[in-house]
Amino acid sequence: MTAASQNNLPDLRDLLAFYASAGVDDALEDAPVNRFAETAARPQPQARGEATPQQAQVDGAAKLQPPTFTRGGSDERPKAPPVSQPSATATVPDEAQAALARQLASTATTLDELRQRMAEFDGCNLKFTAKNLVFADGNPDAFIMLVGEAPGRDEDIEGLPFVGRSGRLLDRMLAAIGLDRTSAYIANVIPWRPPGNRTPTPHETEICRPFIERQIELVNPKVLVNLGGPSAKTLLNTTEGILRLRGNWRVHTTVSGTAIPAMPTLHPAYLLRTPAHKKLAWRDFLEVKAKLRAIG
Ligand code: URA
Repeated sequence: MTAASQNNLPDLRDLLAFYASAGVDDALEDAPVNRFAETAARPQPQARGEATPQQAQVDGAAKLQPPTFTRGGSDERPKAPPVSQPSATATVPDEAQAALARQLASTATTLDELRQRMAEFDGCNLKFTAKNLVFADGNPDAFIMLVGEAPGRDEDIEGLPFVGRSGRLLDRMLAAIGLDRTSAYIANVIPWRPPGNRTPTPHETEICRPFIERQIELVNPKVLVNLGGPSAKTLLNTTEGILRLRGNWRVHTTVSGTAIPAMPTLHPAYLLRTPAHKKLAWRDFLEVKAKLRAIG
């Protein structure tokens, strides 16, 4: 190390501390990579008329219908170069990936198969910065399934949902109504950690939504608990805020039409930041306990 770089050490430490406090806590590469430029330059498989690896993977299943919607792709990425004959029904990559996710999810017949398909799915950019797929924890035969938003750093490292600080609070909340991970099943809307714990984009959520919907359908819990606003909004088809939603029974309707009672409640991470609201979550959990009792 040179004398000059040694003199800069405190600055570097400050800079790293700043990054860590901003949630940038993973070093991915030595040098920055302009992914936007890469995406723009790379012809998309659809543009070349080739099947994506995932399309090959659904051999035997019904062929994908070209999506007929035209909503723009992610705000963060340039759109693919136009396909040979641009039309009012042109496919953009994110829509194609969401359609593929729906295809893969809907034809998975077991949780193991679903997990395998998710592990092989390359259509969500979050997969490429995450260390692990965070599929689920707990008992898939449980009467209750809890769904959070997305894994954080600890979950990404362990490949299991809710194992960090908020997970420890969730365990205490479950214990307070006589449950633990042998009597509850836990998953997230998004199975890959967003870098730096940023909020998943609406497109990432749309791409991942078919997987969690199928996971719920396959587990078929008697009661669903939505941990936090993003889970409630995604799975209960509402735009209402969590503070208005929480504490009232809603219904999650599966793709095949089964109605599952759902209790939206406050996310444990929010409760760690706002302990005065723990009493609200406690009320919600007592509702859940009463419902489970009534169901038997
Ligand atoms: N927050 C979530 O929503 N899910 C996790 O798995 C961990 C933290």
